[in-house]
Amino acid sequence: MENSLGKLFTITSFGESHGRCVGIIIDGCPAGLPIAEEDIQREVDKRRPGANISTKRVEEDKAEILSGIFNGFTTGAPICLLVWNNDIDSSEYEKMRFLPRPGHADYTAFMKYGGFNDFRGGGRFSGRITAGFVTAGAIAKKLLNIIGIEVLAYTIQIGGIKAEPKGIDEIRENVYKNAVRCADLRTAEEMVEAIAKAKEEGDSLGGIIEGMALGVPIGLGEPVFGTLEGDMAKALFAIPAVKGVEFGSGFSAAGKRGSENNDQFTIRNGRIVTVTNNAGGILGGISSGMPIVVRVAVKPTSSIAKPQETVDIKQMKSATLVVKGRHDICIVPRAVVVVEAMMAVTLCDFAMRAGLIPRVLK
Ligand SMILES: Cc1cc2nc3c(=O)[nH]c(=O)nc-3n(C[C@H](O)[C@H](O)[C@H](O)COP(=O)(O)O)c2cc1C
Repeated sequence: MENSLGKLFTITSFGESHGRCVGIIIDGCPAGLPIAEEDIQREVDKRRPGANISTKRVEEDKAEILSGIFNGFTTGAPICLLVWNNDIDSSEYEKMRFLPRPGHADYTAFMKYGGFNDFRGGGRFSGRITAGFVTAGAIAKKLLNIIGIEVLAYTIQIGGIKAEPKGIDEIRENVYKNAVRCADLRTAEEMVEAIAKAKEEGDSLGGIIEGMALGVPIGLGEPVFGTLEGDMAKALFAIPAVKGVEFGSGFSAAGKRGSENNDQFTIRNGRIVTVTNNAGGILGGISSGMPIVVRVAVKPTSSIAKPQETVDIKQMKSATLVVKGRHDICIVPRAVVVVEAMMAVTLCDFAMRAGLIPRVLK
């Protein structure tokens, strides 16, 4: 249940961290979109751990297309995309099978599925399932490109370190040039150091990713249960470790006056625009034509080397847990492309609902 998302551009996620593969089935993708395996691979590579800051799992993460693409074009049939799991070491998970990691989904998964869940590597709750999300994002981005929509995401905070805001060109240019996926290259170095320090201390760090969608036309989204922000937030909350999503001025709007927070209208180059964008490009759940701006809070990785209190759920007694194995010290850098993917998938679905993308591309 609940492994599918979207109404017309539908994605269905499958796979577990230490099973054979993780992947996605896309149903509803128009026929005639040129797709090569490299298009998918390029996006999947962006999710690979950056040098020295992430998990030691060193998989190549090779994406494969199993169906729905023929002679280099989508056929209109379901597209099955997957990434094989090759570099698997489940030994640490066998040892802590009955010792739920504080902050992870081990406890809720065990209780809900009566211990039948594949616990290895976090199973269905692993960040690894987002490799599948990214493959879907690759196709969604290509479709959005046809109607002039561009989706960007970048790290704006890691631990207590905040990046300086940068313009669109610097974002496009810099984000994938550094291990933490930050547009501010100077601060990126500090972020890398902070992650290395947390690692030394057997700890982890969280942070904030900002996503932006440019070229979104006015009118995507439906009142009241089909709002663009509601569905986009749902897609972003599907990313493990995401604990907060805010649009535009978000939570800070609560402390502002209307006169500060209202985006006043003006005419620029014959177009109605707003002077500021505190609404994050969405008014009444409907895109306003201004850039969609969303911020995603990612918690610090729960699997840390420091000893923590837990319980042995089989023997019903207290226990101390030291998590070993291969874990990201900070999830943020790897989640950046995942945020892009989930924004793109949502926008693609809404663009199709609005009839902006035809069923056959010619
Ligand atoms: C790209 C990515 C990588 C992740 N890597 C790890 C990891 O190495 N160790 C870990 O404990 N959690 C990791 N997570 C987060 C857990 O999967 C997540 O915290 C857990 O499923 C509990 O869900 P929740 O945090 O959303 O409540 C990762 C998440 C993502 C998106």
